[in-house]
Amino acid sequence: MNLDDLRDIFEPYERLVKIELCGVTREVPENNTILRGLQYLDLEAISYGEFCWNGECLNCQVWLKNGDKEKAVMACRTDVKEGMEIVRMADGIELFGSPQTA
Ligand code: FES
Repeated sequence: MNLDDLRDIFEPYERLVKIELCGVTREVPENNTILRGLQYLDLEAISYGEFCWNGECLNCQVWLKNGDKEKAVMACRTDVKEGMEIVRMADGIELFGSPQTA
């Protein structure tokens, strides 16, 4: 699989936005959910992962930095935002071949 073939899976976007993912700055397509952004970063891991994509399984849960606290959201239901900080991800999200290491 390569990203050009699969561009259709993403909502239309003109640019990438920077987010912080477990301490590492990454660029993901604007106008898309966090889960699509993770898919953009690791196509196979997310495409073949166990995700319902519609808010039912909770396998996509991530924790966003929210002031001094963390806020859990569903990555398939939450759009990316420039500067968003994802501090933790559900165990089922294994990017780049290892859990929790982005
Ligand atoms: S992928 Fe199932 S709740 Fe988000």
